[in-house]
Amino acid sequence: MRLTVKLVLWFFVPVVLAVAVNAFYGVRAELERFEADVAARHVVMGRVLRAAFSEVLDTDGETRAVSVLDYTDKRIRLVDIRWVHLEPGAPSARVPAVSLDRLAPLRLGQDVHEKADGRLRSYVPLFLQDRPLSALELSESLDSERAVVGAAVFRELRAVAAIAIAIGVVAAGVGGVLVGHPVRLLVEHARRVGSGDFSIAAVPRRSDELADLAREMNAMCLQLGEAHRAKLRAIEQLRHADRLTTVGKLASGLAHELGTPLNVITLRARSIAQGRAEGERAVDAARSIAEQATRMTNLVRQLLDFARPSTPLRTLIDVREVIARSVDLVAPVAAKARIRVETDVAPGLPALRANGPQLEQVLTNLLVNAVHSMPDGGTVRISADAPAAASVPGSTTVRHDLIRLSVKDEGTGIAEENLAHLFEPFFTTKEVGVGTGLGLAVCYGIVRDHGGFIDVVSTVGEGSTFSVHLPKDRS
Ligand SMILES: Nc1ncnc2c1ncn2[C@@H]1O[C@H](COP(=O)(O)OP(=O)(O)OP(=O)(O)O)[C@@H](O)[C@H]1O
Ligand SMILES: [Mg+2]
Repeated sequence: MRLTVKLVLWFFVPVVLAVAVNAFYGVRAELERFEADVAARHVVMGRVLRAAFSEVLDTDGETRAVSVLDYTDKRIRLVDIRWVHLEPGAPSARVPAVSLDRLAPLRLGQDVHEKADGRLRSYVPLFLQDRPLSALELSESLDSERAVVGAAVFRELRAVAAIAIAIGVVAAGVGGVLVGHPVRLLVEHARRVGSGDFSIAAVPRRSDELADLAREMNAMCLQLGEAHRAKLRAIEQLRHADRLTTVGKLASGLAHELGTPLNVITLRARSIAQGRAEGERAVDAARSIAEQATRMTNLVRQLLDFARPSTPLRTLIDVREVIARSVDLVAPVAAKARIRVETDVAPGLPALRANGPQLEQVLTNLLVNAVHSMPDGGTVRISADAPAAASVPGSTTVRHDLIRLSVKDEGTGIAEENLAHLFEPFFTTKEVGVGTGLGLAVCYGIVRDHGGFIDVVSTVGEGSTFSVHLPKDRS
């Protein structure tokens, strides 16, 4: 339930209850007042009639007095008036409607009022000369009381309804402005923070707790943003360090690879210097020197490019090109280790939206690991395709929007107990100084940043296949 509605209800229910309880007591008081009025009227009438009845009884006898009473009874339609005897054995017409025990106070000269069967009966004592105690009974229907109660209840209900509506409208309006709207803004802001947007939000110009909360959220966003930027810087430094480590590993292959062009250059330069190459031959030698120098420059530039700190830029990437660049980088170390690298890219693969240098880093790390796993040489196969369905490791999700880049080696394979730790930072089975254990952790981070995942299939003694899955470009 919305907070505003809850607040309104919390406010509304007790107020309406209080008003309703007050209304209930109001109606009850009205009822008591009505009955007290009837009783007071009975007392006045009873006392007047008592005086008249006693007078007539004394002067004209009982029959006349009773007929005067009957006459009065008929004239006053609202009230039934009777002369009742309080002694047991009285004729039935004179027996009071109320039991004699209840009429005991009459003996002390007090009036008695009794409510039963929807009527109010009042008894006024009659002390007559030479007669036992008797009384005048005035009995009146309380039917009209229902109408009084009905009118009072209606009046109170109308008041309760009016108060309820007024409270509801005011509380909903005020609650919406003071609570609902600012809380909605805070929720939106929290959602943005949750999705990684640490920008600050406008703070309401008020000095209540919600404005304080908005201010605190902004302060938190500034800190989170700073921490996030620091984390990104640290990650990039780590990735850069990993690239430099890879460059170090590739350098031995490069040194080997540079040997041939350097030899050619040395021989050609020497032949020119010693005057053995003249005219056309000298031109050929110089051209050959220039070609070999260009080849060396390219080899070194590839490595330097790879070592450069990357930017977070993502562009449309041709899978074939990234694979070719990574294979070129690793080719010298692979050749040195008597390893052939085969490439198999499925035709018609869509482009990827990715960070080129980072993707190259992933493939290069996997290729270097493959090379390291094959001390006796062999073949490493790097392939790319778009599987119809790929299940996400550790979940039941199946994705159909992925491009798969696989590096398959014929190396040592990975022991079962190591499989779960491969992507942990600093997990390595290599000797100190050979492996840092960062390569696969960096691959994992980069691929996850791109919305993809890596899985591994490995058999000890047969080899391993690392498959990088990346989402196709949707634009
Ligand atoms: N293709 C592979 N064949 C066999 N084992 C592998 C393969 N790739 C990775 N491993 C295992 O996973 C471990 C971690 O690999 P990772 O690339 O993260 O670190 P590393 O190669 O040891 O060091 P570096 O950080 O220098 O790459 C390796 O030490 C190795 O035991
Ligand atoms: Mg490695």
